[in-house]
Amino acid sequence: MATIAGNLAKRTFASSSTLNNVIKNVTVIGGGLMGSGIAQVAAQAGQNVTLVDISQDVLKKSETNIQNSIGRVGKKLYKDDPAAGKQFVEESLSRIKYISDAQKSVEQADLVVEAIVENLEIKHKLFKSLDEAAPSKTLFASNTSSLSIGEIASVTKRKDRFGGLHFFNPVPVMRLLEVIRIPETTDESYKAMMAWGKAVGKTCITCKDTPGFVVNRLLVPYVAEAVRMLERGDASAEDIDIAMKLGAGYPMGPIELGDYTGLDTGLFILEGWHKKFPDNELFKPPQIQKKLVQEGKLGRKTGEGFYKYTK
Ligand SMILES: NC(=O)c1ccc[n+]([C@@H]2O[C@H](COP(=O)([O-])OP(=O)(O)OC[C@H]3O[C@@H](n4cnc5c(N)ncnc54)[C@H](O)[C@@H]3O)[C@@H](O)[C@H]2O)c1
Repeated sequence: MATIAGNLAKRTFASSSTLNNVIKNVTVIGGGLMGSGIAQVAAQAGQNVTLVDISQDVLKKSETNIQNSIGRVGKKLYKDDPAAGKQFVEESLSRIKYISDAQKSVEQADLVVEAIVENLEIKHKLFKSLDEAAPSKTLFASNTSSLSIGEIASVTKRKDRFGGLHFFNPVPVMRLLEVIRIPETTDESYKAMMAWGKAVGKTCITCKDTPGFVVNRLLVPYVAEAVRMLERGDASAEDIDIAMKLGAGYPMGPIELGDYTGLDTGLFILEGWHKKFPDNELFKPPQIQKKLVQEGKLGRKTGEGFYKYTK
């Protein structure tokens, strides 16, 4: 008998039926902000999900966050039919397993999406061990924001079945998925990843394995240039933000955006790119951002960045 979530998945993502025969079991490694969101959208789309984290505390928190978030989705989707909404929530939640053994988690996986800390060495260690444990058919993907997919994949023997699946925060809400091909990614693997992205409700775009892909390649230098304007004294933070909101129609100004995403995160990305591409002026980390980060003023999350925030 067809389930409610199955019907929903069919209704919403009708054209993904071919893929659903290919990717049924998804393992998401990293149960933090991004990983829990990725696990959620996959479970909502009818897939069996294993969510992995080295920390049991994180797994517990992820479970609570996913329960709350799917609850909200159920209420929204089934406004007029609370019983159907309840069934949708229960079925979606029942598809997610939470475990801490990464190697075991990939034994049945059709697709592994990695969303652990943004550190090449740690990602290498993980993918090396997953490559040994996973069946040869399993597709591997990284959700990295700023590292090279080719470099991450280099430690595996499955570069032909490797790609980037770059989601945006918050995953259940943001509609975009960037799908990254490396030269070795086969057409079959690429098509399976595109179809999977569609199956989990995202609009997929494709980008080569270049720093920041499309969105961050444009946004990170844009925010940095706004910070440099401030540094030069060209305009105040408030005026830069007002200018881009009212003059360019952006929902948030660049200085506000830097505070919102975290000045440490922006700086970390810039420093990584600057080290690799020292001649690219766009990637040069601004001094005032370095100073704020050193002082622990990381933006909204610490209550102060370029602006001050009250709770
Ligand atoms: N935060 C964002 O807005 C955002 C957006 C797109 C992509 N990303 C990328 O997604 C990835 C994760 O980011 P996040 O914000 O979710 O980070 P996060 O810190 O919220 O979560 C990372 C999780 O990985 C776990 N972890 C670390 N090493 C592990 C290992 N070896 N095995 C299993 N779990 C491990 C940690 O315990 C932590 O819970 C990063 O590569 C980041 O660049 C982040």
